[in-house]
Amino acid sequence: MKTKITQKVFEPLLEKTIDESKQGSAYESIIKQPTSKKAYIETYGCQMNFSDTEIIASVLSELGYGFTSNVFESDLALINTCSIRENAEEKVWNKLKELKAIKKKNPGLMVGIMGCMAERLKNKLLEQEKLVDLVVGPDAYRDLPRLIESAENGIKSINVLLSRDETYADISPIRLNTNGVSAFISIMRGCNNMCTFCVVPFTRGRERSRDYRSILNEAQELFDNGYREVTLLGQNVDSYRFDDCNFAQLLEKVALISPDLRIRFSTSHPKDITDEVLFTMKKYDNICKYIHLPAQSGNTEILEKMNRGYSREWYMNKINRIREILSECAISTDIIVGFCGETEEQFLDTVSLMKWAKYDYAYMFYYSERPGTPAAKKFKDDIPEEIKKQRLQTIIEIQNQNSLLSNQKDLNKTFKVLIEGNSKKSDLDFCGRNDQNKMVIFKKQPHLKPGDYVHVKVHQITSATLIGEIV
Ligand code: SAH
Ligand code: SF4
Ligand code: F3S
Repeated sequence: MKTKITQKVFEPLLEKTIDESKQGSAYESIIKQPTSKKAYIETYGCQMNFSDTEIIASVLSELGYGFTSNVFESDLALINTCSIRENAEEKVWNKLKELKAIKKKNPGLMVGIMGCMAERLKNKLLEQEKLVDLVVGPDAYRDLPRLIESAENGIKSINVLLSRDETYADISPIRLNTNGVSAFISIMRGCNNMCTFCVVPFTRGRERSRDYRSILNEAQELFDNGYREVTLLGQNVDSYRFDDCNFAQLLEKVALISPDLRIRFSTSHPKDITDEVLFTMKKYDNICKYIHLPAQSGNTEILEKMNRGYSREWYMNKINRIREILSECAISTDIIVGFCGETEEQFLDTVSLMKWAKYDYAYMFYYSERPGTPAAKKFKDDIPEEIKKQRLQTIIEIQNQNSLLSNQKDLNKTFKVLIEGNSKKSDLDFCGRNDQNKMVIFKKQPHLKPGDYVHVKVHQITSATLIGEIV
C-alpha cells in the first residue's frame, strides 16, 4: 500500500530520500495499534528535524496516541517546521492554509507547530486565528503532554525555551520513516558556529553533545532489530565531545558494534574535520567513505563575511587531505550564491572551486536573508534576485557535469551495496547505496532481502543512479 506521509522537503543535512512505499507499511503497523486518539505528523527541513519527529512520536505514543497518515482522521495534526530559507517557511504557511480549511470542517482537530519556525516565530504563530493550538520549540518536546492537555482544555499553549543540556538521550525514538534498514541517530543538538547567514543557532540554540553510551545503546538496538546502517547527525559532527570522547572516537565505538553495521555521518565542518576522523574512516571498512563538506563559497572574502572560519585555500587543502588519506571517498557540498555584496569575480571563485573539486554531489541555493541573523543585521541583501538565479543556474550546470563525470568513473566498477528495498521504477529491481552514498539499481534475486549486502557491477549510469548486476 502506498501512503503519503510525513516527508515533504529535505534540506541538505539530509542526503537520504525516503522510500514512501516502505514508509507507508511501517507507518501502517503503528497505526494498527488500538488507540483512541490519532496524531498526524508532517515533517519539513533537515535530517535533524526528521529525527526529532521520531522523538515527538515517542512522547505521543506514551500519551496513548496512535498515528495516521491521513490528516482527516486525526485528532492532532503536528507540523515539524524549517526556517532555513524563506521558501522553506512558505511551504509551511501553505500547509497551514490547508489545515485551516480542514479545521473548519473538523473544529475538534488540534493543530501544533513544532521545530524551527516555532522557535523563530513563537507567539506570532498563536495569533493565527482559530488555527494553531500549540507551539513547541525543538528543546521542549518533553513538555508535549502538558501542552496538549492545556490545548485540550481550550487554552492555547507554547513552550519555546531552548536548553543547554537537552539531548533526549533517554527517549527511544519511534521510527516512523523507516525502511527497516537505515536509521538516523542524533548525536548532538544546536550549533555554536554563527555562520552569519544561518538561522540554526537561533532556532536550535547552543551546541551540546549526547552521552556516547546512549548513542551506542541506540545503535546496538537498531542493529539487533535488523538495521544495517546508521547516520550520526549533528550540525557540526566534528565538534562532538562528551567527557573525553571526541567524534573520531565515537565513530570508532559505533563501528565496533559490528562490521555489518554501516556508519554514515552528517554534517562535517571544513574548519573542524580532523585527520583523526579521516584515519578512523580508513581503519574501518564499515565507516562509509563519503563526506558532506559544505564549502558555501569559493571566495575567501565572502567566506570571511559568512564567518565560516576557513579560507578558500584551507578548504582546498582539506579536500586534498581527504583524497590523500581516503582515495575512494566521495565528497559533496553545500553552496550559497548571491550572498550580500558578492561580486561577479567573487562568484567566479565559487565556479572555479566547483570545477576544481569535482564534487560527487552538491546542494545549491541562492541566499535568502533570515531576520535576526548577523548577516541581516550587518550586511545588505543587495544582489538582485535575477542575478542570484542566474548564478545558481550556472553552478547547477557545472554540478550536473561533475555528477555525470563522477558516475562515469564508476562504470565497470564493482561495489558493495546495502539493499534498501524495491527500486522506485520497478518491483523487479532492488535499490541500495554503495559506500559513496550513490544509489545503485539491480535485478532482484529470490534469496535476497532488504538489509542484505550484495556486490554489484555497474554497467550503465545516469546522472542520478548507477545500474548494474549482482556478481
Ligand atoms: N550545519 C550544516 C548546514 C545546515 S543548513 C553546515 O554547516 O553545513 C544547510 C545548508 O543550507 C547550509 O549548508 C547552507 O548552504 C544553506 N543555508 C543556510 N542558511 C541559508 C540562507 N540564509 N540562504 C540560503 N541558504 C542557506
Ligand atoms: Fe548554520 Fe553554520 Fe551552524 Fe551549519 S555550522 S548550522 S551553517 S551556523
Ligand atoms: Fe534543520 Fe531547517 Fe531547522 S534545516 S535545523 S529544520 S531551520
